[in-house]
Amino acid sequence: MWKDWIRPFVRPLPQWSTLAVASPQQAVIATLRWDGQSADVTADHTVASLKPLAIATSLDAGQCPVLEYRDSATGRLLGVLRLARTASIATENTSLTLYHVAAGEHRCLGWPRRPWNAWLQNRLMRKSRSSNHLNMEPAVAQQLMIAYLCPRPVVLVSVDASGHHNIFPMDLIGPLQRSGLFSLALRSTNVSVPTMREARRVALSSIPATMKAVVYKLAAHHKQPLADWSELPFPVRPSREFGIPAVAAALHIRELAIVHSQEVGSHTLFLGRLVSDDKLAEGTQLHHTAGFHQAWRCRQGMPFAEI
Ligand SMILES: Cc1cc2nc3c(=O)[nH]c(=O)nc-3n(C[C@H](O)[C@H](O)[C@H](O)COP(=O)(O)O)c2cc1C
Repeated sequence: MWKDWIRPFVRPLPQWSTLAVASPQQAVIATLRWDGQSADVTADHTVASLKPLAIATSLDAGQCPVLEYRDSATGRLLGVLRLARTASIATENTSLTLYHVAAGEHRCLGWPRRPWNAWLQNRLMRKSRSSNHLNMEPAVAQQLMIAYLCPRPVVLVSVDASGHHNIFPMDLIGPLQRSGLFSLALRSTNVSVPTMREARRVALSSIPATMKAVVYKLAAHHKQPLADWSELPFPVRPSREFGIPAVAAALHIRELAIVHSQEVGSHTLFLGRLVSDDKLAEGTQLHHTAGFHQAWRCRQGMPFAEI
């Protein structure tokens, strides 16, 4: 159909693609490169803040490392982020390094589709800027999409303290493997941030891909707490040590004892230690990746299962 042919020229790719992927994802490998050295950080880097866009890792990779994302099956370079060291965080006999994203480019689309798609996407972002969360600069949103080349799993975070209950979705999460810490980057305006700082414990439910619709609805709880656990449209079960209500149908329930929290730009970075780790079911977990990554996979004849 001529419409299928013309579509890429007039309509941008979606920024995000929601996927059903087994966790931990194996499709993409992330590598940090600096001063002639390199290290696999697939399970050791995370987004720490959106404004400014910052990456945390347990490695100290010098002042200006490069973060590369490669397809694991073909070795093909999908994208790079150029980083600039901003700070380190010392806690619990370990340390993390924070990097600002200075620049980035992806290789998922060829020329001229790559700049043209970015132009179309950026134009759309500028039009709907006020409804964009955090009002991010389009160029920074493009860098964030590159950080999602490693498909990011979605969890529901449960918080339960006297007088405050909540459950909301997150995907800006750890692990930060070498440090043994697990991170959560939560916008500081989230209504549960003060309780999390005080109670210092949460439960994380890994969400089956089939629960996408209900999970997206729970995004409302970033701004307003849950009145009562019984109002949720699915059953909960108490987490093993803390007894925090978690999703009964979760693939995996983990509990985190929060050992450190600090503001990083727009977000509060929580660092925790795993207290329990219960694998409950097999199945695919809800993940996010960049739309241009899924477009590349489709061209290779190996699309991710979309949901
Ligand atoms: C699947 C999913 C994952 C999310 N992950 C995070 C996260 O990791 N950190 C965070 O601060 N907000 C997260 N959010 C919240 C959104 O970024 C946003 O703040 C929330 O939906 C409220 O939207 P608004 O502020 O644009 O109105 C997530 C939302 C959804 C639906």
